[in-house]
Amino acid sequence: MIFIVTSFLKNQPMKIKSAVFMRGLKGDNEILNDGIPQVAFIGRSNVGKSSLINSLTGVKGLARTSSLPGLTQELNIFKINNSHYFVDLPGYGFAKIGRGRVDALHDLISWYLFESQHNPKVVLIIDAEVGPTKDDLATLKVLEDSGKEIVVVANKIDKVKKTQYLNQMKKIAELIGPHKIIAYSSKDKKGMGELSDEVLKKD
Ligand code: GTP
Ligand code: MG
Repeated sequence: MIFIVTSFLKNQPMKIKSAVFMRGLKGDNEILNDGIPQVAFIGRSNVGKSSLINSLTGVKGLARTSSLPGLTQELNIFKINNSHYFVDLPGYGFAKIGRGRVDALHDLISWYLFESQHNPKVVLIIDAEVGPTKDDLATLKVLEDSGKEIVVVANKIDKVKKTQYLNQMKKIAELIGPHKIIAYSSKDKKGMGELSDEVLKKD
């Protein structure tokens, strides 16, 4: 069933006017081939990808979230403003759901990002407090090598003390290199305007 929600909240600084859940995919589908630009959200499990989609669109409960890692297990496709697809990906680096399942999810992510012809813009989400992990940096490297357009989000910035903010963002920037980094918090509603501008802008 298609679940439709529209958000017209007045004082939100973002340009997202509508967000519609289209479907969850385990492989290719005609929807991915209809010419609408795609924006993929990737990061390790539990880093807050699905929560970010909810806060960015202003639609609570649009993407399913959980305090337990490993919840998202498909490519969940959302149509934004009738002009873009947001693709909520499963997280990487979470072993508890079983080796075979993890491999299958990694294959799905890898197929979508690198083998299919879909070529989405990629939002790589890292934990602002933890900084980029080895897995995050390895992911960044393959994204760079494949020529993807990349935006990095330092998520859960609410967990970084105000006195540590500049220092922590500098450390992250040193490891991430020449990519735009947006400090973000779904909890404190921070970074939404900047991120929606970045992902929806016409290139
Ligand atoms: P998978 O689908 O398992 O890969 O996880 P995910 O990356 O989609 O994470 P999800 O959005 O489900 O959130 C994971 C946990 O992080 C939940 O307990 C959220 O409440 C919490 N969380 C998400 N965003 C933030 C944030 O900005 N700040 C804080 N403090 N917690 C957050
Ligand atoms: Mg998720």
